[in-house]
Amino acid sequence: ENDILSKLPLKGKKVLITAGPTYEAIDPVRFIGNHSSGKMGFAIAKQAANLGAEVFLISGPSHQKIKHSFVKRIDVISADDMYKATHQYFKNMDIAILSAAVADYKPKNSANQKIKKATASLNIELLPTKDILASLGEIKEHQFLVGFALETNNEIENAKSKLKRKNLDAIVLNSLQDKGAGFATNTNKITIIDKNLVEKPFELKSKDKVAKDIMNEIVAKLEL
Ligand code: CTP
Ligand code: CA
Repeated sequence: ENDILSKLPLKGKKVLITAGPTYEAIDPVRFIGNHSSGKMGFAIAKQAANLGAEVFLISGPSHQKIKHSFVKRIDVISADDMYKATHQYFKNMDIAILSAAVADYKPKNSANQKIKKATASLNIELLPTKDILASLGEIKEHQFLVGFALETNNEIENAKSKLKRKNLDAIVLNSLQDKGAGFATNTNKITIIDKNLVEKPFELKSKDKVAKDIMNEIVAKLEL
């Protein structure tokens, strides 16, 4: 009679997921952002919950919706906000999957008032944001840490160097070269690379199915 529960391989596990873009304020009405829809991260959150995990979904601005009693959604705006929220939860997690498209730069100063237009050119000085994933790689203990890599060239090589540099257990390489893979689409084409640098390519498929592939790989690796 406990059949259904025993088929939930992530029952009792806590999973942190980051999703969506971040917005970096220029002034009260403008920001630097990107085209991430959050679809991939939300699909992963749903799948992790379906496998029985308690999910903490930290999302940048996204129109995605999720309704699942095992998913707690934490909304954030900027890379700094996402960094704080992620560190707040990470210590108690078993798995962390960082799929967010975090801005690499933020304006050095965010104006308090709307910047008025002028005829002169406008320069906005940018500072690098903190790398959330790398910061978790530095402090991780028991956690299984998964990152994403979005590449347009030297994909495998770049993904492997990210995996090593950020001390990950696996990295999901997202190909932008394939039509139908990427930001606003409903499909994705991935290759999962594990920490032994073994590559596992997958077909182009719906983001829901990609999420299942990712979670199945993680479950299989946890059981090793
Ligand atoms: N990431 C993060 N915090 C950042 C930047 C990236 O947590 N400030 C995470 C992303 O969520 C993703 C991984 O790092 O899991 C790789 O992101 P990506 O943009 O592909 O790589 P970067 O390290 O930012 O390098 P670049 O953009 O120069 O390729
Ligand atoms: Ca980046």
